[in-house]
Amino acid sequence: MSIAVAGASGRMGQLILQQVFESPQATLVGAKVSCTSPLNEAPLTSLFPYAPQTLILTSQTDRAFKDAQIIIDFTVPETLRTHLEVAQREKIGMIIGTTGLSQEHFTMLEKASLTIPILYSANFSLGINLLIEVVKEASKSLGAGFDIEMLEMHHRHKQDAPSGTSLSLAKAAAEGRNLTLQEKAIYDRTRERQARREDDIGFAVLRGGSVIGDHSVIFASDEEIVEFSHRALKREMYAKGALRAALWLANQKPGYYKFSDILTTSEKKVVS
Ligand SMILES: NC(=O)c1ccc[n+]([C@@H]2O[C@H](COP(=O)([O-])OP(=O)(O)OC[C@H]3O[C@@H](n4cnc5c(N)ncnc54)[C@H](OP(=O)(O)O)[C@@H]3O)[C@@H](O)[C@H]2O)c1
Repeated sequence: MSIAVAGASGRMGQLILQQVFESPQATLVGAKVSCTSPLNEAPLTSLFPYAPQTLILTSQTDRAFKDAQIIIDFTVPETLRTHLEVAQREKIGMIIGTTGLSQEHFTMLEKASLTIPILYSANFSLGINLLIEVVKEASKSLGAGFDIEMLEMHHRHKQDAPSGTSLSLAKAAAEGRNLTLQEKAIYDRTRERQARREDDIGFAVLRGGSVIGDHSVIFASDEEIVEFSHRALKREMYAKGALRAALWLANQKPGYYKFSDILTTSEKKVVS
């Protein structure tokens, strides 16, 4: 299966390239960087000495994507529109891991998914995707007596806040209680002097060092605290998850998929 990687020079992009090179089922056919990248038009061998000599890191979207069946995109939200346009025109499926997307971006994804297969996930780890289901169930069972608070920490370079994963976990907690996250999310408590309202979902964000991604969902009642936590130990797991999703997506019809759609029955049974 032929794959193009967008954000090829980034932390995630390089790990995804590594996974593609190691996979017997995948072939790299394109690698996109930004037009300001010092690696624009450099041979891919400058990053991976064993890469095919013919592959060039390019900022030209058409050139990077033209031979691909699937694009894996871990970049910045601003590039999504262009990437989707080319993917739709050339009928290429897309795996999207970029976080910090707005409602407008999600609407674009939904529209594009009418003509191409799209899988978006704010987190490609198996553990987080199972945790999302667990949190939804826990929120439903624990009920309104438990306040929901989110806590996350990431490395000092991360630009968006709260993390896409924290938002996904909070959305699951809200859904478990038939709430709408947009109506209940509290991102900043510094602007008003007010006690916590019953269904508020509060977010706390820490940034520092090289933390890959720590997330906690806290359910607090007057009598007890139930806490669900996940700690990422290696960034490679996201790259492995993204490639696994790409291999799966290549056989799917146009549609809007999530990472949990690819989990096998046995993996899903863990939480059923
Ligand atoms: N879903 C998940 O599981 C998951 C896991 C980890 C990270 N992420 C997300 O993935 C994204 C990337 O993370 P990262 O840690 O790899 O960040 P990063 O190291 O800063 O990489 C981002 C890359 O995007 C590239 N880029 C910017 N504009 C571009 C354009 N117009 N065309 C192509 N590439 C462009 C940059 O390339 P240049 O160097 O060429 O400028 C940069 O290398 C972030 O949104 C992050 O939150 C998601």
